[in-house]
Amino acid sequence: MRGGWAIKTVFIKSAAAYHDYPPPIKCEIALAGRSNAGKSSFLNALASSDIAKTSSMPGKTTLLNFFEVGESYRIVDMPGYGYSARSGDEQRTWRNLVEDYLEQRPILVGVLLIMDVRRDWGQDEIMLCKWLEQLNVPVALIATKIDKLTKNELAKAEQRVRKTSKLKNIFFTSSPKRVGMKAIEEFVYASWVKPNLEKPKSLMEKFD
Ligand code: GTP
Ligand code: MG
Repeated sequence: MRGGWAIKTVFIKSAAAYHDYPPPIKCEIALAGRSNAGKSSFLNALASSDIAKTSSMPGKTTLLNFFEVGESYRIVDMPGYGYSARSGDEQRTWRNLVEDYLEQRPILVGVLLIMDVRRDWGQDEIMLCKWLEQLNVPVALIATKIDKLTKNELAKAEQRVRKTSKLKNIFFTSSPKRVGMKAIEEFVYASWVKPNLEKPKSLMEKFD
């Protein structure tokens, strides 16, 4: 096991539409962000296992991929946005897939917004955060690929990301070096999962 620490993560299924989602019996955390930002790699680093497909070419993840993390929650690896080589139809399909999921999943308890640390906080990130605020879904930022920067560059990037995103919860990570994983898992569990452990059950009862 790399890094000496990992949480058991198991692939459940992929979904192309609402009727394919697994039963809503556990809280879910979604990975959102630009194509190629490192969403799937982040999940692999967290799990210490190559369970999600990654690629140096943007647009690798095309479906919603559901994973069971430990005993108590799931992570949903989503396709990225901002991949301009997609055709108009593909862009619409992507939007529907991601938007439907974020809007129609009451057991979604948090979104990890994944961003390459070298990129600027942009319009897409602003829109996504505004929209999630309206949906009442909390967001934390994962700034990836810190191994690509020198110490000095990283210090500057950290300041820039904190200032421009204005988010409270920001983590800086390297997936190949497995930096930041444990802190993120602890944050996700303590802030989003633990307070909502009973949520799936109470939502199911509402529909009984
Ligand atoms: P889509 O599925 O297209 O939305 O992309 P994604 O966000 O899932 O990105 P993916 O995990 O496939 O990673 C894209 C590329 O970035 C791959 O070549 C990864 O190896 C690389 N990468 C991801 N995270 C890191 C990191 O922390 N450090 C370095 N050096 N490379 C990374
Ligand atoms: Mg991916």
